[in-house]
Formats: sequence, C-alpha cells, structure tokens
Amino acid sequence: MELQGKTAIVTGSARGIGEGIAVAMAREGANVVINSRKEQDCVATVEKIRADGGKAIAIAADVAKEDQVIAMVTETVKQFGRVDILVNNAGIESPPMLLKDIPEEIWDRTLSVNLKGVFFCCKAVIPPMMDQGKGKIVNVSSVAGVRMTFFGGANYTASKYGVIGLTNHLAWELADSHINVNAIAPGAVLTPLAEQGTTQEYRDMTTKRLIPLGRWCTIDDLGNAAVFLASDRADMITGQVLAVDGGALTGFGEDLRPVIRQRMADMQASHDAKH
Ligand SMILES: NC(=O)c1ccc[n+]([C@@H]2O[C@H](COP(=O)([O-])OP(=O)(O)OC[C@H]3O[C@@H](n4cnc5c(N)ncnc54)[C@H](O)[C@@H]3O)[C@@H](O)[C@H]2O)c1
Repeated sequence: MELQGKTAIVTGSARGIGEGIAVAMAREGANVVINSRKEQDCVATVEKIRADGGKAIAIAADVAKEDQVIAMVTETVKQFGRVDILVNNAGIESPPMLLKDIPEEIWDRTLSVNLKGVFFCCKAVIPPMMDQGKGKIVNVSSVAGVRMTFFGGANYTASKYGVIGLTNHLAWELADSHINVNAIAPGAVLTPLAEQGTTQEYRDMTTKRLIPLGRWCTIDDLGNAAVFLASDRADMITGQVLAVDGGALTGFGEDLRPVIRQRMADMQASHDAKH
C-alpha cells in the first residue's frame, strides 16, 4: 500500500475525477476527506470507499471561501490527526465564449474556484504539513493549462495556466519544508458528466484527431497518477506537470500516425533496397 497511514484531502471529490482520485488513494491505505460544497453530495463516495474497506469522511466546503477551507483543514486534523496530501481538484467550466462575451461574474467565479481555491487550500494545509516536516500537494490543471485548446473559454484557460504557475512557484517556496508540489494535466476524461454531455461521434472524432493512445482517459487513470505523485516514490519530484492525456499534448491536434506509418514504411523500403 503506497499511502498507508497518510491523510488526504481531495477537493471536489463527490464525483468525476476527484472521486476517482479519492477512491484510488483510499485503496492505497489513505484516510480520505471527500469534499464538495454540499455534504449530502459526498455521501455516495464516502459509502463506496467504506464498502471497499477504506476510511473516508465528508467535509463540505466551498474552496472559494477561505473560512470554509480553514474549517475543512481544522476538521481533518481533528478527525485524522494530520494532513499529508492535498489534491486541489475542485474546478468549474463554463460554455466556451469569446472574450468579448464573457460576463465579469463568470470570469470571477471561474478564477475564484479554479485558482483562488487552490491558493486558499494550499495556504491552509501548509502550516500542518510544515509541522509534520513533509507533505504532498497535487494540483489538477488541464491540458488547457499547457497549450491553447478549444475546450474552454479564456477564463478557463487563464485559470488552468495560473494553476501551473502557482505549482512552479510553490515548488520552490516549499522545497525547504519537504513539501512537494506538482500538477496533473488531464486530457479528455470520460467522467459520467462528460459522457452525458458529449456524443459518441464527438468522442470518436477527438480520439482519432488528438489522442495517440486511442481512447479518452478514465477516472482511474487520473487516480493512478495522483497516487504516484502523492506517494514517497515521488519524493524527488516537484514543480512538474504530469499530462494524463493519452499523448495528446505531444501532437499538433491532428492525427499524425498515418504520416509516421508512411515514413516508417518508406525507411524500411529504402533499407531493404540497400541490403
Ligand atoms: N473532465 C475532464 O475532461 C477534465 C479535463 C481536464 C481537467 N479537468 C479538471 O479536473 C477537475 C475535475 O473535473 P471533473 O470533470 O471531474 O468535474 P466535475 O464537475 O464532474 O466534478 C467537480 C467536483 O467539484 C465540485 N466543486 C465545484 N465547485 C466547487 C467548489 N467551489 N468547492 C468545492 N467543490 C466544488 C463539484 O461539486 C464536483 O463534485 C477540474 O478542476 C477540471 O477543470 C477535467
């Protein structure tokens, strides 16, 4: 078990990627805090983990509200005695809009949850992690925080680039305290919500054009990456962005495989002709 005896707070873990990460961490022996804005939304994930033999509690908090974040961390330490891992996963999207059409409230809400929420949660866990002499922070950004994509509007893109900037800064700021800070950049993830919100045709199109490994990610793929970055195996890794995207970020947004296959066939033919 990679995380035996450790305590992890996973924000926005009532469903989707956060749920996948929380379940994976509990399976590796961590005590897990399931968080969302409403406690009743967390119940199903808590029960799932307990049914699997893991330890989980629900703590409601809006990550964009500092007092609620401080209360969540205080309650975590009260219940489990420590906090070793913070996964900043809670995030929101809005329908992609042109910048000229983005209302100020949508800009503010996106940045408040996706970026200020990460700031508040880091700020609250750093003191207990420093007291413990060690900690792991994993920030969930996006491929949209590394390269321009059509997934969100400028508000989403800016928030996710911001998460990576904050990750890099904190990696240096917290290095002497042995707190590692890394980011995960998920590509297209087949959460239940994404499944409802897209057609099979759209998913096939994006897979063919963008994803060399040939499928959308599952929440388990994200859970595996987060467990690794939160484990002692990642003690010498900080300030990194781990893309969990089936290779999408390595390409140019088009299917490069036929070109590569043709080039390899040409090389083989030329090699055969010479020998
Ligand atoms: N799904 C994807 O394809 C994808 C791709 C790249 C990045 N991401 C990022 O991964 C993270 C999770 O995405 P998801 O698809 O699982 O989303 P989701 O909407 O399915 O789940 C997000 C969870 O966060 C909670 N949440 C939202 N605002 C909150 C707040 N203010 N305080 C506390 N909890 C809050 C929601 O209630 C929900 O439980 C987000 O940061 C998202 O930007 C998702």
